Amino acid sequence: MTIRGDSTEYELLKIWCETLPFYEEPKSVKTCEIGVREGLGSQLIIMTIKGRIGKIPYEHIGIDPYNDAAYQHYDNTTAYKSDYNDAMRVQLLKDFSDNENFKLHHCTDIEYMNSNSKENLIFDLVYFDGPHKTQDVIREAVWFADRSRKGTRFIFDDFRFYTIEDVAKLLAHWGFNIIGSGASKICLQRMK
Ligand SMILES: C[S@@+](CC[C@H](N)C(=O)[O-])C[C@H]1O[C@@H](n2cnc3c(N)ncnc32)[C@H](O)[C@@H]1O
Repeated sequence: MTIRGDSTEYELLKIWCETLPFYEEPKSVKTCEIGVREGLGSQLIIMTIKGRIGKIPYEHIGIDPYNDAAYQHYDNTTAYKSDYNDAMRVQLLKDFSDNENFKLHHCTDIEYMNSNSKENLIFDLVYFDGPHKTQDVIREAVWFADRSRKGTRFIFDDFRFYTIEDVAKLLAHWGFNIIGSGASKICLQRMK
């Protein structure tokens, strides 16, 4: 089945993966998408990064609860019922069944962060496209910033719906700067 996305500017996501700087030859590479849905973002990230790093060990983590929840997506909207259900998760697992780099964590962002807080993880790229409330994005950004290195890129989708200025200001403490943006996606890179 064709893997679909529900956003725009996937070409920017691809370019930011193609130009991801590896300041030192990495021993392993880790990327992540929070909010996977049908999987186009993850597919693009994996294909592009894999094409660059050859045989270096590589894992891409997808985090998504697919819980069909009524959830408040943005700061100023009320909760609505989504179509992110278990049938979507089952189809995603079928679509990625022969993809050895992809691992789905079937849980919320908070559950993932709590259960992995003691793991020694370093991420090279994170695509934030799960909850879009400023408070939720800040919580995720800080957790992943603590697990970043020089050159790590954070890409935020639908950033105009939340207060990205607050997120960027916090991330400056880890050395992240904005390196590009479009109508819906923005990319920050850790410079030191
Ligand atoms: C806008 S869609 C993601 C679209 C996808 N990134 C793409 O490019 O097609 C939002 C996704 O976030 C997931 N989601 C909702 N709450 C979440 C949470 N607390 N943690 C992680 N993912 C969540 C939903 O299940 C849904 O699949």
